Amino acid sequence: MAIGVFDSGVGGLTVHRELTRRFPERNFIYLADQAHAPYGGLAGERIVELTRVGCERLFEAGASVVVLACNTASAIALRRLQQTWIPEVRERLGRPVNVLGIIVPTIEAATGLPWTYEADRKGDKIEAIDVTGVFCTAATAMSRVYEIEIDKRREDLAVFSEPCPGLAGLIELGASPEELKVVVDEHVDALRRRIGRHPDTAILGCTHYEIVADLFAAALPSGAKVIHQPTAVADALERYFQRHGEYELGAAGRRDFLTTGKAGPQTDLVSQFWGAPLVFDPA
Ligand code: DGL
Repeated sequence: MAIGVFDSGVGGLTVHRELTRRFPERNFIYLADQAHAPYGGLAGERIVELTRVGCERLFEAGASVVVLACNTASAIALRRLQQTWIPEVRERLGRPVNVLGIIVPTIEAATGLPWTYEADRKGDKIEAIDVTGVFCTAATAMSRVYEIEIDKRREDLAVFSEPCPGLAGLIELGASPEELKVVVDEHVDALRRRIGRHPDTAILGCTHYEIVADLFAAALPSGAKVIHQPTAVADALERYFQRHGEYELGAAGRRDFLTTGKAGPQTDLVSQFWGAPLVFDPA
């Protein structure tokens, strides 16, 4: 049995790496749906279906809990799958299984509040507004999940999403740092022009972008706070496992990497981020 980690491609490795540091003895199976990446420009129903198929593959391979290390899948597919599909999977497999997303932990980290917190709106005057910029895919931006969920909890945070279509695809292809820098700079600047200033806090709301977190940090002013999803997700998962002891997660420290796309070594960009060459097996 294992923890499954799912993404459209290599972006979820950023979350996987942090989770394996946090739970080193657990077994992990990573699945990249590279045959269909990037997800950011796909229609909602297609994202739901691809995410369902990916999770099914991970359960089949022995995962008990699947972490959707993908904002796009978490924003578009997670609730549907949890509500309409997971109960049937539990019954069919006869064991506890679940799918968890990465947006809830990110919003908890960005607001400093637990997900269950309900704002008591008394119409108090807001003294200062902090601006949060969310760099994400077009599908995540269109879902407005960050704007809606942060606003429910913190009226003093103004959220602006900046869709970066094409960036996840470039990272997936292993584009050069120079090429990636041009695109990152363009989006950081586009957001600055739209807001009238740089955001106080930035959320890298697409796991692929964490691979080029250094480029975002360089493009943003030095005082800007950056919310890193891998840490937020690992913290939340630790709390989740403290409350839920029913999942079998293995204890042999196994690491499997599967792809629906071209198996074999990943790009230099991935190896550089990973610190060693990384080879994917066919899913
Ligand atoms: N890494 C994913 C995310 O966090 C998906 C990027 C894509 O496939 O467009 O949104």
